[in-house]
Amino acid sequence: MTDTADITAQIRALASEKHAVILAHNYQRAEVQDVADFVGDSLGLSRTAAETDADVIIFCGVHFMAETAKILAPGKTVVLPVLDAGCPMADMITAQKLAAWKAEYPGVPVVTYVNSTAEVKALTDVCCTSANAPQVVRSLGVDRVLFAPDRNLAHWVAEQVPGVEVIAWQGFCPTHERIHAEHVIAAKEAHPDAEVLAHPECRPEVLALADAVLSTSGMLRRAVESPATEFIVVTEEGLLHGLEKAAPGKRFFTLDPCAVCPNMKKTALPDVLRALQTLEPRIEVSDDVRTRALVSVERMVEIG
Ligand code: 13P
Ligand code: SF4
Repeated sequence: MTDTADITAQIRALASEKHAVILAHNYQRAEVQDVADFVGDSLGLSRTAAETDADVIIFCGVHFMAETAKILAPGKTVVLPVLDAGCPMADMITAQKLAAWKAEYPGVPVVTYVNSTAEVKALTDVCCTSANAPQVVRSLGVDRVLFAPDRNLAHWVAEQVPGVEVIAWQGFCPTHERIHAEHVIAAKEAHPDAEVLAHPECRPEVLALADAVLSTSGMLRRAVESPATEFIVVTEEGLLHGLEKAAPGKRFFTLDPCAVCPNMKKTALPDVLRALQTLEPRIEVSDDVRTRALVSVERMVEIG
């Protein structure tokens, strides 16, 4: 047996012994995706965490994702195998900064991207993910919202929901921000028949070059359903693994240089095994923060 096959077998055996479910984000390393029970985008992972009857959730992703799982499933043990796997965008707004921003716009509802801390979610009217952000904003039925922390997602939402003024916090994802229009133009020249799929965390000028703007799982569905056989994938490179599994026979191209989220790559198979053996490091959220954050997170899970 190879090392990977051996450790994968150990992880699967321990997961069933401990009544654990292994969730992995679409950007995780290929071997981590392959050992998981469910691989998905932020919305799919949140819904799965809310619905699972497992006792333990091993969350292979970044901190805010595991924290969201804990908010939705407080009775479960939620383990993030590598505790310092964070999301720099989520750290671009704090609860203190959000409170001060809200005070400048009394009465304007706050929509917060799920890539945020529990404390920020606790000060939020409704959370959203890349899969449902326009529907969430539309659901409020107002003509002005505060949107944090992603300015690129905010800009894209404003285009999708005309008539609503989207006031954006100036946060961004460093991984997607490094993608420039010239990278996409070069890929289109190299692959003129390819459909361009982009994540809404990209800059507006990058999204303007895309055929479809979608969450990571939205891209997986599109790749299967589209008549196209070639795709330029304008997001983190980990998605290629899922795309190639979902649509074998189709061809997927990353950009040059290809986008990598260092935090998503921190979790390796030995970390998953150790997490199952020790059920550490655990994610905890105080009751006060959790009950306030739950309102905005539950609304997110219900929409779209
Ligand atoms: P998705 O919810 O589309 O998977 O995106 C999560 C994320 O962090 C993208 O950078
Ligand atoms: Fe955060 Fe960007 Fe990594 Fe997604 S890709 S987890 S937004 S840093």
